[in-house]
Amino acid sequence: MSKKIRIGIIGTGGIARAHVSAYKKLPYVEIVGVADVIPGKSAAFAEANELKEAASFDTHTELLRMDLDGVSICTPNVSHHITTVDALRAGKNVLLEKPMSVTLQEGIEMTQAAKESGKMLTLGFQPRYDPNMKLLQEIVQSGRLGNVYYVETGGGRRRGMPGGTFISKKLAGAGAMADIGCYSLDMALNTLGYPRPVTVSAFTSNHFGTNPLYHPEASKFEVEDFGVAMVRFENDLVLQFKISWAMHMDSLGSTLFLGTDAGLKVTPAGTGNWSGVWDGAVGSITMFHDEFGGQTSTAVPLVQHQLNLFDQKVHDFAEAVRDNRPAPIPGEQILIQQAIIDGVLRSAEARKEVSIELPR
Ligand SMILES: NC(=O)c1ccc[n+]([C@@H]2O[C@H](COP(=O)([O-])OP(=O)(O)OC[C@H]3O[C@@H](n4cnc5c(N)ncnc54)[C@H](O)[C@@H]3O)[C@@H](O)[C@H]2O)c1
Repeated sequence: MSKKIRIGIIGTGGIARAHVSAYKKLPYVEIVGVADVIPGKSAAFAEANELKEAASFDTHTELLRMDLDGVSICTPNVSHHITTVDALRAGKNVLLEKPMSVTLQEGIEMTQAAKESGKMLTLGFQPRYDPNMKLLQEIVQSGRLGNVYYVETGGGRRRGMPGGTFISKKLAGAGAMADIGCYSLDMALNTLGYPRPVTVSAFTSNHFGTNPLYHPEASKFEVEDFGVAMVRFENDLVLQFKISWAMHMDSLGSTLFLGTDAGLKVTPAGTGNWSGVWDGAVGSITMFHDEFGGQTSTAVPLVQHQLNLFDQKVHDFAEAVRDNRPAPIPGEQILIQQAIIDGVLRSAEARKEVSIELPR
């Protein structure tokens, strides 16, 4: 394609700025329209981000009437479903911010809309572009661990609770389990090759978010700030998954893969308020195995890199649109973790194990 590709932005809040900054680095992309439901916000965004040629709208439907090759959807979680389905049905390719949706049913409808429209639905998981995430996948998929029967993942921030749209049930739909848990789940599921979940038993709480000692918007805090879940998969694999936005602890530990031939420990790159292996930031990878009849361990050399992972994900989408390639991180993959998040929310509310019905 020699002509420039035409991109629109839906939702002009915090993360939309990072999308614009990444697109601006590509000479073959032009941002031609922006939309936000807060009247006047998209126009102010266009001005602040020097998008002189971009038209601004107060609804996504008006933006979707434009001639566009693709859109970045950067709205709060609850609006992901309607904006994505509308964009696909209007014939636009979609780069959607994480998490995919709130419920499994929404995710199913979104992937269905992609299939029916023949347009791309790709999800914005930048840790996928970290060479160490690819390394993890390579190790596990090489079969070196044997049969992987147990995975423990997730992690926590000591005090890293967002506010605004992220703590509103009406806008975010879910809290920490979806917001940062989706990264841990993507890391584990992508590494394992998308096994199918069958049941989940979960517990969630919000002791920190609702306490004015720890959160300035405590009276508005409506979602979970902590959660733990046990997920069973079809192939006799069990995943323990725990996430926290806030806690009296420095870390919730490492990500572990237990296999019949070897085990892997992946430690967080940092601990504390905002970092952790949950977001794909790898500190070290160690393999535990037996050699010549004795137990030993091997430190797997990490790949050193200076990549801007966020730019990589936006550029991969733009390139896929330009070159007519399939979705880099397709909705069908992410639907599997959406089924788990949906199960976590249902199980926590029902206070018992629930089944996961994922369409084949
Ligand atoms: N990948 C990442 O690193 C990353 C980081 C932060 C946030 N996110 C995700 O990005 C999304 C947005 O987060 P944010 O921090 O930018 O939130 P934000 O609240 O700053 O911005 C969201 C914007 O969307 C607008 N909006 C709401 N509904 C809309 C609709 N139907 N049509 C058009 N605009 C609408 C809101 O008015 C707001 O301006 C969330 O889903 C979040 O999980 C991803």
